[in-house]
Amino acid sequence: MDFSQIPSPCYVIDEHLLLANLELIRKTGRRADVDIIPAFKGFAGWGVFPLMRQYVKAVSASSAHEARLASEEMKTPAHTYSPAYTDADFDRILSCSSHVTFNSLTQYRRFYERTLRCGHSVSVGLRVNPELSQAGAALYDPCAPGSRLGLTCEQVGASLPAGVEGLHVHALCESPAEATCRLMDAVETKFGHLFAAVKWINFGGGHLMTRKGYDTELLVKALQTFRKKYPHIRLILEPGAAFVWETGVLRATVEDIVRNGDVRTAILDVSFTAHMPDCLEMPYKPRIRGATDALPGKPAWRLGGNSCLAGDFTGEWSFEEEPCAGKTVVFEDMIHYTMVKTTTFNGVPHPSIGTWNNSTGFTLLKRFGYDDYKNRLS
Ligand SMILES: Cc1ncc(COP(=O)(O)O)c(C=O)c1O
Repeated sequence: MDFSQIPSPCYVIDEHLLLANLELIRKTGRRADVDIIPAFKGFAGWGVFPLMRQYVKAVSASSAHEARLASEEMKTPAHTYSPAYTDADFDRILSCSSHVTFNSLTQYRRFYERTLRCGHSVSVGLRVNPELSQAGAALYDPCAPGSRLGLTCEQVGASLPAGVEGLHVHALCESPAEATCRLMDAVETKFGHLFAAVKWINFGGGHLMTRKGYDTELLVKALQTFRKKYPHIRLILEPGAAFVWETGVLRATVEDIVRNGDVRTAILDVSFTAHMPDCLEMPYKPRIRGATDALPGKPAWRLGGNSCLAGDFTGEWSFEEEPCAGKTVVFEDMIHYTMVKTTTFNGVPHPSIGTWNNSTGFTLLKRFGYDDYKNRLS
């Protein structure tokens, strides 16, 4: 990537890396004979949908807006699940969805009739909670005690309500294939008595099959074994992060250096809270090109965001070349759960969005300005 072509700040999607992920996911889906569809909640950069479209037959949506984006920009139907549908959004969701999953029996009772009257066939599912916590961070664990997400086997009972054709389970986060195997076992143990009545099971997201070292063979084998045992059940996986894992960066610039006692901070033209919120929420320490965890004998640096939130920083880092105003800072792997979660907090400038192609260089997809900030408010 030639950063002299790329404005700062900017999210840059590398087309070749994206294509490599799409190839791997398509191959895995074909070998296992399952549908692997991208979850828009993790990535919805519609500027690259023309590229993704050849690999994607459907998408996973969690709102009317995501379902509409699926229909208008990906040109595919959505498999939609939301913790709570509303009267106002349900017709739009139906018009853009082939599958609709309810989070509770009250939501099912309130909206099921409308799925029958919408003018096209919509397959109805229920979200179930296998009560198997494997997601690591509590923030991302749908099976944590007291979770509001999905029905436990006790709540579902002996049979499914009329018209329910599918089960939806999301219980993983950046997980290895072994966790998917355990999840499938738990779902069979807790909900196997319903399998004769279902046409599909969606094993949700969190299957990080594009991470180096992920055991795709194990995943494929487990899915094939399940398919052999229950040939009438279509399997769906809906990872978000895996589609765009390590496919691009957030390019930023050091704007100032400040010191307080022993602490040195390089202040950037981006914000952790506004542009890389998982660094603070999850939390995790991002990887930065040309930097490592602080090394003994080398200056340790904090990187500070340009919002005035006191906690808008990460650290500590040692750099190959010491930071100074004007230096480029490249945050690795900043495509999933970044652009979809950004805010215009403090009115800080939103990073541009662009693509990188080794043959044709940088293409700017979008630049943000004052109107984007102003139009979110009134
Ligand atoms: C219902 C559902 N499906 C799919 C996903 C995508 O998960 P991931 O991006 O970890 O693969 C999520 C993430 O929160 C989710 O809640």
